[in-house]
Amino acid sequence: MKHRNPIGLFDSGIGGTSIWKEVNALLPNENTIYLADSKNAPYGLKSKEEIIALSCKNTEFLLNENCKIIVVACNTATTNAIKELRTKYDVPFIGIEPAIKPAATQSKTNCIGILATKGTLNSDLFHISVRNHPEVKIVEQIGHGLVQLIENGDINSPEMIELLESYLQPMVEKNIDYLVLGCSHYPYLIPQIKKIIPSNIKIIDSGEAVAKQTKNILTQNNILNTSNEDATKVFYSNSNPEVLENILEHKEKVIYKNF
Ligand code: DGL
Repeated sequence: MKHRNPIGLFDSGIGGTSIWKEVNALLPNENTIYLADSKNAPYGLKSKEEIIALSCKNTEFLLNENCKIIVVACNTATTNAIKELRTKYDVPFIGIEPAIKPAATQSKTNCIGILATKGTLNSDLFHISVRNHPEVKIVEQIGHGLVQLIENGDINSPEMIELLESYLQPMVEKNIDYLVLGCSHYPYLIPQIKKIIPSNIKIIDSGEAVAKQTKNILTQNNILNTSNEDATKVFYSNSNPEVLENILEHKEKVIYKNF
C-alpha cells in the first residue's frame, strides 16, 4: 500500500535533519528514510552539473527503497537541481528554498540579510526570488566554512564563532531586521547566532514551511499515512555516522552505507 511507503529525505550531510525534525514533528506516523551524503559535503562549492548528478544518485537510492515522495532537504540541491529531478523522476518532490518572501514582506527597515552557500546564492532560482522583491535591500553573505565545521561536529568551536561574527556583524551594521538562514545546516547555529546579533533581528528558516508543504502534497496525492502502526525512521550516512547520531541527540540509530 503506497501510503505506508516511506518519505525520503536527502541532504549533502547532517543539516537536513533540521528539516527531518520538522517533518517528523508534523507527521509522526510517517515512515521516513534520511540520506546524509556527508562523503560529498559540501555541495555548496560544487558545479551545477555535479550537484545535479549527486541529487540524482541520492534520489535513485531513495526510490530503490520505495519512497513515495522525496524531500530535498538541502537549499543548494533544490536551487540547482529540483527542475531536473522533477523532469527525470515520476514522484512528487518537495524542495527547500531560502525564506526571502516572508522576510521581505515583513521587513520594517527594508533591509534583510541572507546567509547561504555559494551554490544557492549563485543559482538562477535564488536570483528569481531576489528579483521578486525590489522593494527591499538584500544583503547576501556566503557562509564559507560553516557546513564543513558542522559536518566535523565543531559547532561550538572558536573558529565557528569567529566566522559567524565576521559574516553577521556587517549585516547588523547595514540595519537588517530579518536574517534568513538559507542552508538547512544553519538552524543548528541559532544559539551561537543569537549571541552575536541584537534580539530585534528575527531569524527565519524554511523547516516548518517544508513540513507543511510535505503534508499538503501527500494529502493531495492521497498518500498520507493514516495507519496507527509504529513508524520506522531510518538514517543512512556514507561518512561519520556518529556526528549524525549526535545531531539527532542519540534518539535514532544511524546505519553506515557506502552509497
Ligand atoms: N544543507 C545544505 C544546504 O541547505 C548544505 C549545502 C552544502 O553542502 O554546502 O544548502
